[in-house]
Amino acid sequence: MANEIIKNLLDALEVSPDNVPLRLQVAGMLMTDNNYEEATKQYQEVLQRSYGNSNAQSGLAAGYYYQQKYSAAIIVYEQMQQDLTLTNQVLYIKCLIKEHSMEQALANYQQVLALNPGFTDEEIDTRLRRPTANDITGDDFDFEDDEDYLMEKPSLRFSDVGGMEKVKEEIAIKIILPLKNPELYKTFGKKSGGGILLYGPPGCGKTFIAKATAGEIDAKFINIGLHDILDMWIGNSEKNLHEIFELARRNKPCVLFFDEVDAMGASRSDLKQSAMRHVINQFLAELDGVASDNEGVLILAATNAPWSVDAAFRRPGRFDRIIFVAPPDESARLNMLQTLLQTKPVGEIDMKKIAAVTQDYSGADLNAIVDIAVEEKLRDSISKGSIQVLQTKDLLTAVKQHKPTTTEWFASARNYALYANESGLYDDILKYLKIKK
Ligand SMILES: Nc1ncnc2c1ncn2[C@@H]1O[C@H](COP(=O)(O)OP(=O)(O)O)[C@@H](O)[C@H]1O
Ligand SMILES: [Mg+2]
Repeated sequence: MANEIIKNLLDALEVSPDNVPLRLQVAGMLMTDNNYEEATKQYQEVLQRSYGNSNAQSGLAAGYYYQQKYSAAIIVYEQMQQDLTLTNQVLYIKCLIKEHSMEQALANYQQVLALNPGFTDEEIDTRLRRPTANDITGDDFDFEDDEDYLMEKPSLRFSDVGGMEKVKEEIAIKIILPLKNPELYKTFGKKSGGGILLYGPPGCGKTFIAKATAGEIDAKFINIGLHDILDMWIGNSEKNLHEIFELARRNKPCVLFFDEVDAMGASRSDLKQSAMRHVINQFLAELDGVASDNEGVLILAATNAPWSVDAAFRRPGRFDRIIFVAPPDESARLNMLQTLLQTKPVGEIDMKKIAAVTQDYSGADLNAIVDIAVEEKLRDSISKGSIQVLQTKDLLTAVKQHKPTTTEWFASARNYALYANESGLYDDILKYLKIKK
């Protein structure tokens, strides 16, 4: 019955493809019918005709969620950040948990709990509520207890990061060399300081290279999700921001990494908006090192949405290098596949072929492909009672099952690069997309 109606409505859409309300209705029915794949297609069609339509965005994200395409769902939720309904928030948090972005999940959960005290969700609670502190909406972050939790000493090196030659070089020139040759830089009147802002589609190694930077110079690594500062400690953001910088200054050499810096600039709910200006100012003051000395503190930041980052951040001495972290090219993919498969039981694998057919796949996507193929082989080995090794065809099958997650990012990035490309900020995106200016 439902199928019949859907079919009729789809026919009607053939005749009037631009009827957005009708398309939304069909998409909703497809969702109810558990036909998530077709539903997401319809929501995408709506978004092409009605940009930013929040019903379509919610539907699209939920459709991805039920197809277990968590990273795709996250991208959509991040685009609609400012007006997530409770249902959307909850699905978003679940996606973050599935993608192991625990800090971000926690920060968002804090926000849900702040607005909906008493809210519970079994799945989220099991993953996010810390056993020692039942009430995570509690006080201020306790730095004495949590320094270890904030700080690590990575063993990851640049050589573990596939490709990204240009990014490595920029980081070396801008922050590693000054640290290793302070006298030389002083002689030339060059002050070290200022930071690098990395941007690009999710899963392409921004966090990874930031961590490797710390490993490369044997420094401590502090990884702060900006949502942590803004949400976890509502009302105390400025103080906490200052304490984080102080923690870094006490532990130099240190790489201080701010993830999701766009969280500070983006137009957020009114509740946050007024407080936001103070936080931004505090952050800028810390960056400028007015009150203190940032020597030996290397500052990196990352964002998937550079267009939402406050322009004041880009002034000289602040994030004055903005680097595009592109999806890995073919040789980087080859390199990453070799590393990923090194420790797995493999037969004949034509890695070059896999690298060739995974254009637009992020590092995280390649991880996913190998995971899918390994799981399949595990199942196979159990049913056959002997170890079945990975073959080229297993990986090719996995490639078909997992679509690249960077395409959607480029779909919106493209528009910014074409229509909001002030002073050529996004030329690298155009270059990557082979679009002539
Ligand atoms: N260039 C790369 N070399 C090796 N692994 C990579 C690379 N890029 C991404 N990865 C893998 O993908 C995962 C996700 O990357 P991540 O740095 O979190 O992406 P981003 O911060 O850009 O969203 C990493 O933990 C790593 O396992
Ligand atoms: Mg990251």
